[in-house]
Amino acid sequence: MTTDGTGSDFIGYPHRHLLGIEGLTASEIRYLLDLSESYVDLNSRSDGRDGDPRCRLLAGRTLVNLFFENSTRTLTSFELAGKLLGAEVINMAVATSSVKKGETLIDTAMTLNAMHPDLLVVRHDQSGAAKLLSEKVNCAVINAGDGSHEHPTQALLDALTVRQVKGRLEGLIVAICGDIMHSRVARSNIHLLGTMGAQVRVIGPPTLMPPKIERLGVASFIDMRAGLKDADIVMMLRLQVERMQGAYVPSIREYFRFFGLDYDKLGEAKDDAIIMHPGPMNRGVEIDSEVADDYGRSLIRQQVEMGVTVRMAVLDALTRQIRVERKDED
Ligand code: NCD
Repeated sequence: MTTDGTGSDFIGYPHRHLLGIEGLTASEIRYLLDLSESYVDLNSRSDGRDGDPRCRLLAGRTLVNLFFENSTRTLTSFELAGKLLGAEVINMAVATSSVKKGETLIDTAMTLNAMHPDLLVVRHDQSGAAKLLSEKVNCAVINAGDGSHEHPTQALLDALTVRQVKGRLEGLIVAICGDIMHSRVARSNIHLLGTMGAQVRVIGPPTLMPPKIERLGVASFIDMRAGLKDADIVMMLRLQVERMQGAYVPSIREYFRFFGLDYDKLGEAKDDAIIMHPGPMNRGVEIDSEVADDYGRSLIRQQVEMGVTVRMAVLDALTRQIRVERKDED
């Protein structure tokens, strides 16, 4: 195990940015998950965190959250993670910024770059936006969701949650259900789980299934019961209506009947199968309210908690290189 809860500057994640899960090796992913685990106690401590040296880790550093799309969980957890590690955190309210006056993504990035942030967390409705920014700015860029492409910290927090409950990722049968086509969460999870040796299935109506999805190493199902058979993990996805042009499902009622998770369909999965959802949830659309609130099986709350933990670890990992360079200069 490469766990490094010692506060040392060991660099197990050798990249400048976190733009996606695709292309990361199993050992890089394991390193980020192990490092996240070392932050669980710092996040959940109720007796105050003063005195823990990690609370000063990012002192003097600036983290800018640049969100062009709405967010509750992701934005708040990056803000909290940055503050818990001592960073100055600035949330760019895009609705009131020059972006609304027609400033382009690149212009906005260059303006922010001139303010010398150390970390830039970006969410945008266009796939590839985070990568484009990373090529223009001098700081580390974290992709907090780009269109329907990737959402790497969500996949990491999902994996951490699973690892905590199941003790492993390898060999687990994971069913990802719903709007696969428009979901960056699905894509990042497919890459992560596949790299870590889980068996991934995707389930959804043909209209919401990307063509040739099997090329990503997954098995695809249009019948929910068949896809859920013996699953260890059931990951539900929201219908991403904001990314749909035209009608992809006949009606919400029909969608729930065939693809909504209820106890009846869940009966096909293993008895100890766990339920996940990245949020925001549409109760009665992709998931039955009772199932979502079944705290014995639903890990939706833990996912939110692990979101802060994983984001602390990512901020730590991405600034290690800078910290080592600064130490060398001293
Ligand atoms: C997801 C997203 O924004 O991609 N939400 C999140 O980050 N918690 C999923 C979604 O919006 O459905």
